[in-house]
Amino acid sequence: MKKHRFRQETEAVRGGTGLAKKNGPLSTPIYQTSTFEVTDMQEQLRVTPTDSFYTRYGNPTNTVAENAIAELEGTDAALLFSSGMAAITTSILALVRAGDHIVAQRDIYGGVIKFLSQWLPKLGIESTFVDTNDMEQHERALRPNTKLLHIESPTNPNVRVVDLEKIAALARKHNLITTIDSTFATPVNCRPAEWGIDLVLHSGTKYFGGHSDLICGIAAGRRDLIEQIHHTRTTLGCCIDPHAAFLLLRGIKTIAVRVERQNQSALQIAEFLRQHPRVTRVHYPMLKDHPDYAIAKKQMKGAGCVVSFEVEGSGADACRVAEALHLFTLAPSLGGVDSLVTIPVLTSHYMIDPDLRKKMGVTEQMIRLSVGIEHVDDLIADLDQGLTVLTGARKQAVLAD
Ligand SMILES: Cc1ncc(COP(=O)(O)O)c(C=O)c1O
Repeated sequence: MKKHRFRQETEAVRGGTGLAKKNGPLSTPIYQTSTFEVTDMQEQLRVTPTDSFYTRYGNPTNTVAENAIAELEGTDAALLFSSGMAAITTSILALVRAGDHIVAQRDIYGGVIKFLSQWLPKLGIESTFVDTNDMEQHERALRPNTKLLHIESPTNPNVRVVDLEKIAALARKHNLITTIDSTFATPVNCRPAEWGIDLVLHSGTKYFGGHSDLICGIAAGRRDLIEQIHHTRTTLGCCIDPHAAFLLLRGIKTIAVRVERQNQSALQIAEFLRQHPRVTRVHYPMLKDHPDYAIAKKQMKGAGCVVSFEVEGSGADACRVAEALHLFTLAPSLGGVDSLVTIPVLTSHYMIDPDLRKKMGVTEQMIRLSVGIEHVDDLIADLDQGLTVLTGARKQAVLAD
């Protein structure tokens, strides 16, 4: 864990660049180049291990964004990737080898489940999936060849929060590497390195970019791990394009203010939904009745923009509510300035066996919101009108009787 020089809002705006820099452009230029020219072989030797050699290895624009992220996460270093999936798969590939075993939470991002359960076995690496907050199950799943503990917090779409202190203690006891998909948390709400987690992964596509206009991934952590991952990234070739890194940097400048607004609005929306007569359940960690409220309070500043809720009636009723919303756009993804709505059983959890889905607590009546930065009163008014489709259905049914 690295000491922070400034508060988050300052790090977000000024991070990555030296403050002493004078007479240059204020905004980081886009080094839109695949390669870098040298004058002689002496210089070639000097630049080869730097970010001014060949863009698959590194690029100055990318470096500024990587440094800014490392400052925000409080880690030694960070790396960017072409997508969140690229960050997660490349990092795991860098840290395990044939014969190793991984323990992972059951309710992690679907793409990662697929990678662990269908792709890694081809390379002789097995994974065991365990219940999110059952630490005994985590420990029981460990084998002599277990190398890595992979978690995700908060989870999608039930927004469960994992006790990072307990995970780090378990990993220390058994000499394991810990990796976390911290996409739903952001460093504004939680810095896993502070709790002893080794490697922090993100789909930067979400809050970091913040405007739903780029795809990128992030790994931040200890220097020795980052170096190993850098070698693997260079070999697999899943680097970010400098133009996307520029957009990312622009997003990072406002991440603190965006996430703070999203925290406040999402909590207000969760409270509104909880008292609504047609809503049967609300999932938001900063609500006192959420199963992980105490953990969230301990390790998070806010719970972020994702609020999931279940409505009275059937899956079709949930779809009708989602379709009736005007300010929440029907689209997957989260964390951006525009509010979005999805039905998890038709999007993120579509490919998951219905029985397993039920075990994970993902019902057909569930609606997932990503709360943006529009005025919260407008968003609540939209939800209020959207939910009237359920009342209307009821009245019609009574009339038909
Ligand atoms: C929690 C989480 N992790 C990883 C990913 C994958 O990120 P990307 O789409 O940037 O590859 C996603 C995408 O939705 C996600 O929600």
